[in-house]
Parts: sequence; C-alpha cells; structure tokens
Amino acid sequence: MLALEGGRPVRETPIVPRPDVYSDEVLSAIAEVLRAGALAAHHGRWVRALEEELARYAGVRHAIATSSGTAALHIALKAIGVGPGDEVVTSPLTFASSATAALHANAVPVFADIDKETLNLDPASVEERITERTRAIVVVHLAGMPAEMDELVKIAERHGVKVVEDAAQALGAEYRGRRVGSIGHVSAFSFYATKHVAAGEGGAVATDVTAYAERARLLRSHGETEKYWYELLGYNYRMTELQGVLAYYQLRQLPEALRRREAYVKALLDELAPLEGDLLLIPRPRPYMRHAWHLVQALLLVERLSKPRDYVVRAVRAEGVLNAFVAYPAPLYRTPLFQRREGHGRGCPWSCPHYRGRVKYAPLPNAEWAAERVMSLLVTPNLTEQDAVDTAAAIKKVLGALRR
Ligand SMILES: Cc1ncc(COP(=O)(O)O)c(C=O)c1O
Repeated sequence: MLALEGGRPVRETPIVPRPDVYSDEVLSAIAEVLRAGALAAHHGRWVRALEEELARYAGVRHAIATSSGTAALHIALKAIGVGPGDEVVTSPLTFASSATAALHANAVPVFADIDKETLNLDPASVEERITERTRAIVVVHLAGMPAEMDELVKIAERHGVKVVEDAAQALGAEYRGRRVGSIGHVSAFSFYATKHVAAGEGGAVATDVTAYAERARLLRSHGETEKYWYELLGYNYRMTELQGVLAYYQLRQLPEALRRREAYVKALLDELAPLEGDLLLIPRPRPYMRHAWHLVQALLLVERLSKPRDYVVRAVRAEGVLNAFVAYPAPLYRTPLFQRREGHGRGCPWSCPHYRGRVKYAPLPNAEWAAERVMSLLVTPNLTEQDAVDTAAAIKKVLGALRR
C-alpha cells in the first residue's frame, strides 16, 4: 500500500537533499573572515578570489559576483543595453527571474515554446517571436541541461540580437566542449542554497566583453565610479565575504561534486529504464552535451495514470523521497503576475496602462504539455547510489499502483 494511503514507506529514513558538507578548511576560512571582521567584499579577498576562479572555470574573461542570480540577470540585461520598449524572448518553463529580469529593466518578456525532448527553448519558436523590437534572448539551461546554443546563436546573429545565458541551474554543464555561461554575450549564475555552488544566496555575471563587465560592475554597486561619485543609476547587488568564501570553496570542489551527481543520476536512470516510454519520459542530454544535473525531470505520462501529477508527487514524497517536487507547475505566462501584465502593447513598458488588454500571452502547447506532467528530483551532492535505487523503487511503487 502506498505510504500516502497508510502503507509503509520505501524509506523509513527519508532522502533529504542538502548542499555539500563543508570541510574543515572551509569552516576555518569562515572563522577567519569573522575574526578579521572583514564582512564586505572590499574589506576582504574572497569575493575577488571567487570571481577569478569562476572566470577561469567558466572560460570567460570577466566574472562579477552579485547578491543573487536574479540580480545578476537584471544587471546582465542592463549591461547589454536592454531598456524600455525592448522585447526579450525567453522560456515560459523556468523560474520567474528568467522573465522578471526583463520587467525590472522595463522591457517586455515574450515567451517562446520549448522543445519536448529537452524542455529548453525551441529555436524555431524563438525565431518566430523575434520582432524589430527584440533586443535579447534569455536562454535558460533548464535543470542543468544545455540549451541548443548553436542554433540559438545563429538566430540571434541573423536578427542582430544578444544572447543572455541563464545558467543559474547549469554551472559545469557543457555544450560541444564549451562550458555554458561562456557561449552567449553575457550570462548569469546563481549560488542559491540548492544550486551547484550553494552560498545561501548569491550569483554572478559572466562575460568576455569588457564593456559589459565594466557596466555590470558599476550597476552592481550604485553606479559609483569613485567614492561617492555616481555615474549612473545602480543598485546594491554586492556579495558578502561570507558568501564569497562559501562559493569559492564549493567551486573548487565542483568537478568532484559533478561526478557524484552523475553517479547518482546514472543509477537512477538505469533503475527507471523499465518505466520509460511506458509511464514516464526523462529528457536526456544529446551526445554533444554534458548535463550538470541540477534536476532530473521526469515527465509522467498522466494519461496512463489514475491520479493527477500532483498526487503522484505527494505519493513519492510520502515514500520518503523528499527531493521530489515540481519545477514548474505552470508556464510563467499563466501566473497572476504575467496575466495582469499581459495588457502591454508591443514595445510599451509594462507600466503603460492604456495598452491593457491589447496583447495576450497565447498558450504554448509544449510548455503546457510539460508543466502538466513534470515531476522533478532535486539532485544534491550528498545523494548516493543507494538513494537513487530507493528513489526509483518509490517511483515504481507509486506509478505501478496508479497505473490505469
Ligand atoms: C533558471 C533560474 N534563473 C534564475 C534564478 C535566480 O537565481 P536566484 O535565486 O539566485 O536569484 C534561478 C534560481 O533560483 C533559476 O533557477
């Protein structure tokens, strides 16, 4: 019997996702920051060290650490000149920031459909949505799976628009031998608590273009060129030294942590293979991609199940798999924020009230399809191959019991 319905769970001690265990080296570095009282970036060396390490790791000339991934995306868009009247094409199946960054820059997010095999932007749909007002494409590498960069970059070049990589979920992923975050004009990473590098909160802008890097640095800190001299309207999007030290050490450990993620995912996919095509589908990286496995996205074939997706996810969690959740339950354009804002006219900043009702976000069939079916498993480096076997057992138990 399913644990949700009163049976015994597959795991008595639940599987709980968590970031890496911090080594003694990290703990003593944190103590040193605290003892020195060097909390802000300009008092210490860790944020700077993180930026250098990230630039080297990602394969870009410049990295600018920020207070969050959202802040990084916002100033990345502003650094490339996105502003009022511009349109920014992005995916609807992502975290809010991929689209709200455009709103914060007074631009208009325009959603393109996704590819059902990767859940990333479908290049053909992106091209259909480009207009003379399009300034950028925010390409999300969802779940750690690289988007189809060659085609997206070609489309961007053809139309003279910029490519912004939202690599918040994909640090360490590779596309044709290049690390994601180094392929577009500018990129954003996130160091939120569940990410590959988990500093609690944090992020970074990455770019090869010195002018964008300089602008992002100014925007990060009040547009201040010299002490108390303000060149433009900036923000306080700075990272603290405590975030810097946590992120620095995890970045150093990332190659090993990625291997652990891969071992967990391989075991999980091997175990789930008998269900594939029957009760679920799992997007796989193409041969020229390295997936960073922030999430395993399982698409439940709900038409063959007697209960809806949300029931399945609750049932899997009740079996002791606490890293099961839904990313994302609805395309962004269905959420109230975007529904309320849908009244903008082409090129009109969001706040322009007299355009209300003139532009609608039409449903995108593949995004709708995926949002109804997806069950996500958060992958964290503490998860073992035994956890993978137990997770697959829980999923098999639940789907087996709910098969129509
Ligand atoms: C795809 C995507 N973009 C942007 C962000 C924003 O990052 P943060 O939470 O660090 O602001 C996130 C993270 O949560 C994300 O998953």
